[in-house]
Amino acid sequence: MKALIAHIAAWLFRKMQGAELYLALRNLRRDGHHISVSATFGPRVQLRIADGARFNIGKGVEVLHDSWLIAHEGNSLDIDEGVFISQHCTVSGTVHIGRNTLIGGFVTIIDGNHVFSDSASPVKTQGGVQKPIDIGEDVWIGTNSVILQGVRIGDHAVVAANATVTKDVPDWAVVAGTPARVIRDRREEA
Ligand SMILES: CC(C)(COP(=O)(O)OP(=O)(O)OC[C@H]1O[C@@H](n2cnc3c(N)ncnc32)[C@H](O)[C@@H]1OP(=O)(O)O)[C@@H](O)C(=O)NCCC(=O)NCCS
Repeated sequence: MKALIAHIAAWLFRKMQGAELYLALRNLRRDGHHISVSATFGPRVQLRIADGARFNIGKGVEVLHDSWLIAHEGNSLDIDEGVFISQHCTVSGTVHIGRNTLIGGFVTIIDGNHVFSDSASPVKTQGGVQKPIDIGEDVWIGTNSVILQGVRIGDHAVVAANATVTKDVPDWAVVAGTPARVIRDRREEA
């Protein structure tokens, strides 16, 4: 009996979370953002969208629990169809992620840097610069990697676990390390 009550309580809880998410997504669509009805979001995923930002989330996109998608004023966050974003990721700023790209857990993709050129004042008072990030299609980004501003990651590339990507990555390249360097071409024998 206890097990049955627990089961019903869990079901109701999940339903309520679903309803909340449904209402939030309906409001977003009304505000002109595009979020495919087939996109799915795990528990505690946050979509933080400033006024004047644009959000576009394609068909079949899946975002696992505790990930944050953030768009500040003037940013455009485009996640194409079939993209998979694992748990605890942060995607922030003007970022494009191409079709069927796979992003491992704890990955950070941020298009911003603080300005620190004035040594006489605190960094936090000097503002910031943003440069868009473009990630191609069929890219695999390994867990814990960091993708920095202005970078383009080519189609079919692989970013090894724990890499820090500071420069453009060619199509089909496998990159690893901090800063990330090309270790091979995916079309060669491993
Ligand atoms: C990069 C990766 C895919 C292996 O690619 P590969 O082309 O088969 O590479 P290899 O294993 O042959 O290694 C080639 C070289 O790169 C190095 N290397 C591999 N992975 C690395 C990493 N994450 N960081 C630093 N160097 C790495 C290897 O040590 C090797 O160096 P060596 O030539 O000096 O011995 C794999 O190591 C990796 O990082 N996978 C990500 C796993 C993950 O994040 N899973 C969960 C997310 S879905």
